[in-house]
Amino acid sequence: MIDVQFHSSVFNLKGAPKTGFPEICISGRSNVGKSSMINCLTKRKRSLAKTSQTPGKTRSLNYFLLDGKYYLVDLPGYGYAKVSKSQRADLRSLTDSYLNGRDELTGIIQLIDSRHGPVSGDTIMLDWINQWGGNALYVFTKTDKLSARSRAAMERTYNKEFGLENIVMFSANTGMGAEKIWSWIHKTIVKY
Ligand code: GTP
Ligand code: MG
Repeated sequence: MIDVQFHSSVFNLKGAPKTGFPEICISGRSNVGKSSMINCLTKRKRSLAKTSQTPGKTRSLNYFLLDGKYYLVDLPGYGYAKVSKSQRADLRSLTDSYLNGRDELTGIIQLIDSRHGPVSGDTIMLDWINQWGGNALYVFTKTDKLSARSRAAMERTYNKEFGLENIVMFSANTGMGAEKIWSWIHKTIVKY
């Protein structure tokens, strides 16, 4: 059993932990299921990470300490239309400073809605990940909303685009794919 604790909400990179532990961040559009994935992986029913009917809720970098030796970092979701311009600029600069300035960043889990595949807002992130060139896992969320048939078809498409070993078909509702995500996390942390 993995010990998971909420560590802190960080609104400015200066407030990030100074332990030097490796970090894996979780990125994706608002509402794609980032917080739900964290709750599913950590098997918390009473949510550790706040999920929402109202998108755009995560306004900070949310740090979770795992096994007392590394962090999962829930990034603010992007692409939510109802967030004000100035708020969006703030979130953008927080995320940019994290991605480009955080030495502890060891891996990225990029979430994409399995029903649609990458959409406009995802392009910037996907380009950034390619340039960065580090460990990335592409998690396709909400697969419980697809029929078995279209799930298989989408999986073939994503395999071609991202490579079989880099993708996970996931559902926070059923837990499908959770083990593959954990084994990727462990591999990434061990390499650090
Ligand atoms: P922000 O914090 O706004 O960036 O959103 P988020 O990416 O953290 O999304 P969140 O986990 O809050 O989920 C958004 C909505 O999608 C919630 O209503 C969840 O219950 C729902 N949801 C998340 N994952 C799944 C899933 O695997 N299956 C289904 N059916 N619904 C899901
Ligand atoms: Mg969230």
